[in-house]
Amino acid sequence: MTSNASAATPLRRLEGKVAIITGGASGIGASAVRIFHENGAKVVIADIQDEVGQKIADQLGEGVSYIRCDVSKEEDVSNLVDAAVCLHGKLDIMYSNAGVIDRPFSGILDVTKFDLDKVLGVNVMGAFWGAKHAARVMIPEKKGCILFTTSVATNIAGLSTHPYAASKCAVLGLVRNLAAELGQHGIRVNCVAPFAVATGIAGPKDPMQAEMMENMVTRWANLKGCVLKANDIATAALYLASDEASYVSGLNLVVDGGYSVVNPSMLMTISTFAENK
Ligand SMILES: NC(=O)c1ccc[n+]([C@@H]2O[C@H](COP(=O)([O-])OP(=O)(O)OC[C@H]3O[C@@H](n4cnc5c(N)ncnc54)[C@H](O)[C@@H]3O)[C@@H](O)[C@H]2O)c1
Repeated sequence: MTSNASAATPLRRLEGKVAIITGGASGIGASAVRIFHENGAKVVIADIQDEVGQKIADQLGEGVSYIRCDVSKEEDVSNLVDAAVCLHGKLDIMYSNAGVIDRPFSGILDVTKFDLDKVLGVNVMGAFWGAKHAARVMIPEKKGCILFTTSVATNIAGLSTHPYAASKCAVLGLVRNLAAELGQHGIRVNCVAPFAVATGIAGPKDPMQAEMMENMVTRWANLKGCVLKANDIATAALYLASDEASYVSGLNLVVDGGYSVVNPSMLMTISTFAENK
């Protein structure tokens, strides 16, 4: 997948490090697996899509493995962390990226317990179990990096369903609280907050649908002249995982081309007014 960022990325920024990436079989997670591996990390892909996850591990070869893990289940996550440490002797980076959405768009009247269990179970409980079991092995080492994928929905309202927005804001709260607790142990805690990217979660099932979605997103986007790709989010995660971010903790790194800090309504009104004059 082409990326706006990859051409400028120097290699081997994670040399000697061991990383777990949940949701590593698809989309942003799969891009992070490739980029972390290219940068010298040993990577454990954790997902529930066994065939795809194993295929990526086989393609990338030495230093990349796949372990089935349903992040909503504490026992799976605990076993995953133990397996990574057993395989590589340590864990430097825990990237809790796996996530789900309930449905494309719906209002509060449509929310069901099923939706909440699904979205909060994976996005929030998965984040908790990832942090808990990573911290269990990182605290004695007095170092480590815990990362999450939140969403631009942590910065601006109205872009997603309520369960999804609530889940990502909950993860941001967790990130900040973890940064407060774990700083004394030398552990950094951060997250990356993407704008819309054409991945599995966002809907497109084939390259044509993905292109249609990218065209639509590009029309809404604040930053013109480039298309946001999964690799751009993975490259931001790479920065946070690397020693270049050695004093960065508690950050929600928003990758949205400025979308969430710009309110275009005044300019739109002025241009409509000018057109109608
Ligand atoms: N694509 C976007 O527009 C967008 C925007 C903002 C945030 N995000 C976030 O980015 C993260 C990655 O999503 P993506 O866009 O790459 O979507 P994706 O659907 O391509 O990837 C998500 C991965 O998570 C895995 N997964 C789902 N449930 C799981 C579980 N219970 N246990 C383990 N793995 C599980 C899936 O199998 C899949 O491989 C998610 O947290 C998502 O909420 C995505």
